[in-house]
Amino acid sequence: MRSYLFVPGDSERKLSKSLSCGADCLLIDLEDSVSLAQKDAARALTSDFITQQRMNHQPGGPKFVVRVNALTTGLTDDDLSAVISARPDGILLPKSEHGSDVQQLSALMAVHEAEADIAEGSTQIHAIITETARGTLNAATYAGVSDRLKTMSWGGEDLSADIGVETNRDEAGQYTDVFRYARTVTLLGAAAAGVEAVDTVYVDFRNTQGLQRECREAVRDGFSGKMAIHPAQVAIINTAFTPSVEAIDRANRIVELFAAAGDNAGVLSLDGQMIDQPHLKQAHRILSRAGKSDGG
Ligand code: COA
Ligand code: MG
Repeated sequence: MRSYLFVPGDSERKLSKSLSCGADCLLIDLEDSVSLAQKDAARALTSDFITQQRMNHQPGGPKFVVRVNALTTGLTDDDLSAVISARPDGILLPKSEHGSDVQQLSALMAVHEAEADIAEGSTQIHAIITETARGTLNAATYAGVSDRLKTMSWGGEDLSADIGVETNRDEAGQYTDVFRYARTVTLLGAAAAGVEAVDTVYVDFRNTQGLQRECREAVRDGFSGKMAIHPAQVAIINTAFTPSVEAIDRANRIVELFAAAGDNAGVLSLDGQMIDQPHLKQAHRILSRAGKSDGG
């Protein structure tokens, strides 16, 4: 999936608006964008919305993932109790501080799946792992924690508050060292865990060029998609994370070259460049993303 759009779970208007912007996945939020007084209303609205969407299922429509409140808030279980029975595709865990947090969430989810007569493990997990200093330092602890885990992403806003930084970007608009570190350990932690890395939100939502630049850097560095906060960001993200015709063509040529060379193919050459196993692996990844870029 390329684009993950945050939608406040207490806003009927934004929920209905979110369906038509082309997002591959909606991140329906019960956490930071919903006030404490609105949590119950947001839980009910989110559950009804997903149930409704499941009933009039549209092929090619977005996936539905619910962001619950962090495990330390005491609110997580009530969030799950309200939404798991609506059969969301996944749960997004904010402020995850260790792989064991994903295991703890998975155990809570299993109880609610059983109560709703849903097969254990049907609901996936997405984790935001760098919202605290502790979480950032534990990015390497996610390998093998749960088959439910599908993506890992990072966040700079809560981490800023946890550390007490004045601003997380320098005068040129680039993230400062701590945030580049958080971004980097997310890429490495996700690759080590065998899951996709998803880039964080771009909060300056009227700045199209800034978003395009950040998308290009994310594609370059190995993220498979990016989170959005505004519907206008979705098309830009989808375009950036869809492999280009040239990239698909080159990937096809690499795969064909290895197929023609047979089982004993080691190193080959294409257009004057050395090609070996890592290039083949990357070619398969591009082709798999190209196949999935319709949102599947
Ligand atoms: N999902 C769905 N619809 C959205 C949306 C979103 N994330 N953000 C904006 N819209 C809708 C608005 O409701 C508005 O529709 P309307 O004219 O029919 O009312 C339209 O898109 C244009 O919105 P705009 O006026 O440009 O922005 P805004 O000032 O209303 O909202 C934000 C700005 C940042 C408050 C809003 O984009 C938002 O709520 N984003 C998500 C925040 C969030 O979930 N944060 C948590 C993760 S960091
Ligand atoms: Mg937050």
